[in-house]
Amino acid sequence: SGTQLDRALDLITEIPDFPEPGVLFRDLSPLFGDATAFASVIEALGEAIGDGVDRLAAVEARGFVLAAALGYARRLGVALVRKPGKLPNVAGRVDYELEYGKASLELPMGSVNAGERVAIVDDVLATGGTVAATAELIRSAGAEVTGVAVVLELAELGGRSRLDGLPVHALRTV
Ligand code: PRP
Ligand code: HPA
Repeated sequence: SGTQLDRALDLITEIPDFPEPGVLFRDLSPLFGDATAFASVIEALGEAIGDGVDRLAAVEARGFVLAAALGYARRLGVALVRKPGKLPNVAGRVDYELEYGKASLELPMGSVNAGERVAIVDDVLATGGTVAATAELIRSAGAEVTGVAVVLELAELGGRSRLDGLPVHALRTV
């Protein structure tokens, strides 16, 4: 129910000045650690991605946990987008900016097929750099990004506006 989802999202805590001064970090660890909360979040993410999805894509590390559970529940495979240097065979690489630093992401060769409809799943949408890079990787493989489902959207960081009208479903926006 909505109440159960609210209770789950209320487990997210705020930590000032992490990982550096001026950043208010949202910690989802208590949510991941609570069986009931985790289940209601996975249910809600499933509703958020809707039907007509062929595959999920997620970025390590916390995105993997959500996408693994959702992929199992919905019988969808997951494209495991990695931080650089982890993959022996790379379909593509994108460099981007984080809220606190720079990063690159790589898509495993063969993890997405041309023409597929792919939904991106992650825990937090902050600047949108991670999702934008993931969308670019998926599109470079000839697949379509149907939308983005995240647990928490940090609106003041403007991630949504960076995603060119891609449908974003956030279970909570702060
Ligand atoms: C966090 C979070 C998102 C991303 C959001 O991951 O899980 O993937 O940052 O930020 P953005 O919208 O500004 O790109 P992080 O890189 O901290 O990795 P982790 O999951 O391994 O902790
Ligand atoms: N919490 C978790 N992940 C994040 C955050 C945050 O506040 N900002 C960017 N990635």
